[in-house]
Amino acid sequence: MKVLVIGSGGRCHAIVEALSRSEKNPKIYAAPGNAGIAALAECVAIKDTDVEGLLCFAQREAIDLTVVGPEAALAVGVVDAFRAAGLKIFGPTKAAAEIEASKDFAKRLMFKYDVPTAAYATFTDFEEAMAYVRKGSLPTVLKYDGLAAGKGVVIATTMEEAEATLRDMLLDTKFGEGRVVIEEFLTGEEFSLMCFVAGNKVCPMPVAQDHKRAYDNDEGPNTGGMGAYTELPFVTEEDHTYAMEKIMQRVADAMVAEGTPFTGVLYGGLMKTPQGIKVIEFNARFGDPETEVVLPRLMSDAIDVFMAVAQNEAPVVEWSNEATLGIVLASKGYPGSYDKGFVIEGTECVESKVYHMGTALKDGELVTAGGRVMIVVASAPTLQEAQMKAREDIAKIKCDNLFHRTDIGNKAFK
Ligand code: AMP
Ligand code: GLY
Repeated sequence: MKVLVIGSGGRCHAIVEALSRSEKNPKIYAAPGNAGIAALAECVAIKDTDVEGLLCFAQREAIDLTVVGPEAALAVGVVDAFRAAGLKIFGPTKAAAEIEASKDFAKRLMFKYDVPTAAYATFTDFEEAMAYVRKGSLPTVLKYDGLAAGKGVVIATTMEEAEATLRDMLLDTKFGEGRVVIEEFLTGEEFSLMCFVAGNKVCPMPVAQDHKRAYDNDEGPNTGGMGAYTELPFVTEEDHTYAMEKIMQRVADAMVAEGTPFTGVLYGGLMKTPQGIKVIEFNARFGDPETEVVLPRLMSDAIDVFMAVAQNEAPVVEWSNEATLGIVLASKGYPGSYDKGFVIEGTECVESKVYHMGTALKDGELVTAGGRVMIVVASAPTLQEAQMKAREDIAKIKCDNLFHRTDIGNKAFK
């Protein structure tokens, strides 16, 4: 059995690690992988968006199953190309991945199929957008929806800020033809519900919570995620049933009805508001760093799970009852500019799982090579114990240029 995992970060390391536990003893390749993944898989130097290169490699090596990590690979149509060549691949087609790539697509789908989400309107014209903002209330949420993604989401608390942001998103021609989704501002606790989806068959993973801001108490700039944990006391069984029926299942059915059935991981970024659970965003792939705390709990054989979904069948999935908690070690300065190449010592003394995000090997030594460098993930019968274990293990890792949040998981203890 030969498996190819596309991607290079902590999420990819967690996927590779789950596959490495398979009783089928697969030969695993990662493209391009990283220094941590290299201990479990053969890393091949092909970029995650090089569809031609990935396809050639998979055909030459007779890969039995490919698993896609990052959204960039989905957006360039890697799944479509593999399927057209008759290869098995886990992930959505380019058309289905629109649910993440286009906020306007996701919003239209949710309104058409009555999926609870914030009220919104979409604009390409600056004056019309400003008129809409002036009529509404503050804060207001402005989401860029065009080819220059990554300009992201701005929560404007003043009219001046809203105007400056809209000017930037709609009038600044260097970003080309853009669209802005303007949304009602919601409040509440956020959580991530990832599901394996094969057409209309939907199978949930444990609910997780990301910590997006750089510093403790959710202060500082937004990041790719500074930590996560599973088992959220504030998501009740009733909440879960509601989210599965009214959101995840309904969207999977909607995608089938629209002629773009979804295959892979559908990630619901949800918020428990005073008016009920609502969708903040959808992603068309495993979340990062949620995957790093969810997949360690996978008890079923990962190959069986991914293969079932790739063949459009419902997977049979079992999870451990443990709580998990992961703390990210990031380079000082991240998410702004930072230096690389600092030696990291002590990871071999860590009992928890360590997934590499941005590391490299230099002259035989492990060094920092990215903004987020690694994530330490502890498992324990309770979340308190998992938090303690993760903290103890973090203290064993020595490096001159790393920082981390000390409050990951605290929201569960409120
Ligand atoms: P997104 O890229 O859509 O996930 O948005 C990034 C972050 O902005 C989310 O994780 C939320 O914390 C926040 N956010 C997005 N939309 C809203 C909204 N309608 N109301 C309040 N916060 C939001
Ligand atoms: N954790 C947020 C994301 O994966 O987009």
